[in-house]
Amino acid sequence: MIQVRVRPGVEKKIRGFFPWVYRPEIAGFSKEPKKGDFVVVRDYSGKFLGYGYVNPEANISIRIVSFKKEEPISKELIVKRIEEALNYRKRLNLDSNAYRLVHSEGDLLPGLIVDIYDRYAVVEFTTYGMNKMREWVIEALIELLKPAGIWEKTNPYISSVEGFDVGGGLLYGEVPEEVLIWEHDLRFLVNIPQGQKTGFFLDQRRARKIIREFVKPGDECLDFFCHSGGFALNMKRKGASKVIAVDISPSALQMGRRCEKLNGLDGIEWVEENAFDFLRALHKQGKSFDVVVIDPPSFAKNRAAVPNALRGYKELCLRGIHLTKPGGYLAVFSCSFHIGREELLQVISSAAYDARRELRVVAESYQDLDHPWILQIPNTLYLKGIYLEVL
Ligand SMILES: C[S@@+](CC[C@H](N)C(=O)[O-])C[C@H]1O[C@@H](n2cnc3c(N)ncnc32)[C@H](O)[C@@H]1O
Repeated sequence: MIQVRVRPGVEKKIRGFFPWVYRPEIAGFSKEPKKGDFVVVRDYSGKFLGYGYVNPEANISIRIVSFKKEEPISKELIVKRIEEALNYRKRLNLDSNAYRLVHSEGDLLPGLIVDIYDRYAVVEFTTYGMNKMREWVIEALIELLKPAGIWEKTNPYISSVEGFDVGGGLLYGEVPEEVLIWEHDLRFLVNIPQGQKTGFFLDQRRARKIIREFVKPGDECLDFFCHSGGFALNMKRKGASKVIAVDISPSALQMGRRCEKLNGLDGIEWVEENAFDFLRALHKQGKSFDVVVIDPPSFAKNRAAVPNALRGYKELCLRGIHLTKPGGYLAVFSCSFHIGREELLQVISSAAYDARRELRVVAESYQDLDHPWILQIPNTLYLKGIYLEVL
């Protein structure tokens, strides 16, 4: 196996289980590596640090899969890791038949996402190296889960960064156009082939439950960036008299309408609009609501996009504050990896200042427990939710 030595000092963070080696941190290879090759990572003096796979073209050139000398990368290791990931999910009381089974680095399987929707698995390979191990992964999933079907989702942005062509589509068995899932006491339809991400925003499961704490029967509520109505349906279930759910995607809204019926609910106003425009319009009309949820997509795909993203969050927060009745609640979410909790809090404070409204933080949430994050990379706690009472 190719040996790679890191520059002096870099070994410290790897010994502290930091799983990435950036290109400038590499001192040299024993032999010119090819994309996806397995490597033994060593400190400058040659002492063992871990096993990883390499992509010399990517900024994160090596992703470490194992820190144990006795555990080189092999099919057995990949199967074991998926098995461990499954055992962890079995311990959780997620109250749903849909969950994230493998969360990339969070499950020591960098570059691999696996989501389960009832009897179907959805996989996404986000690195060249993990894509090279795809057969092992698929065989392991078939063996461990006995799924009715496996579907591959692709992300053109990620595959261009990593430099590989992605296949996508059906990998095993059959996957229907729609899968019925349940979450707590609500049911949702998920379109795996056409839907966003792997079909559903599993990471917000806990937040969707928390929101019920703030809604009381008769309340008037807003769900911005609603997708298929994750928050809107919970608001209705809690007895909200009026719920407006806004999304730019007609297919997401169509799914939302059907999910509403499926749960025996009615009266949600589904609005197909750019949320920024609609927020502005509601604000101009002087409307206000008891509970407002703002759950936008990631605005910052990379560090360079952060300043613009922060401006976007600020505008959303400002409008959201104006639209919340005194004593009402506003929940703001950010799923941008490059924007941390502190930055989000600063944006909210600055919006509160501009709006001349006092805010009190009443709760916080993060991605749900099936999306573990790594201590050494704090931004892997990517989904932040701040729940505010707007005084
Ligand atoms: C993070 S998801 C929301 C997930 C949702 N809250 C749930 O619980 O399932 C973000 C949503 O924002 C929508 N979206 C993206 N840009 C938008 C825009 N400018 N205006 C309105 N919706 C937008 C996407 O279609 C997507 O459904």
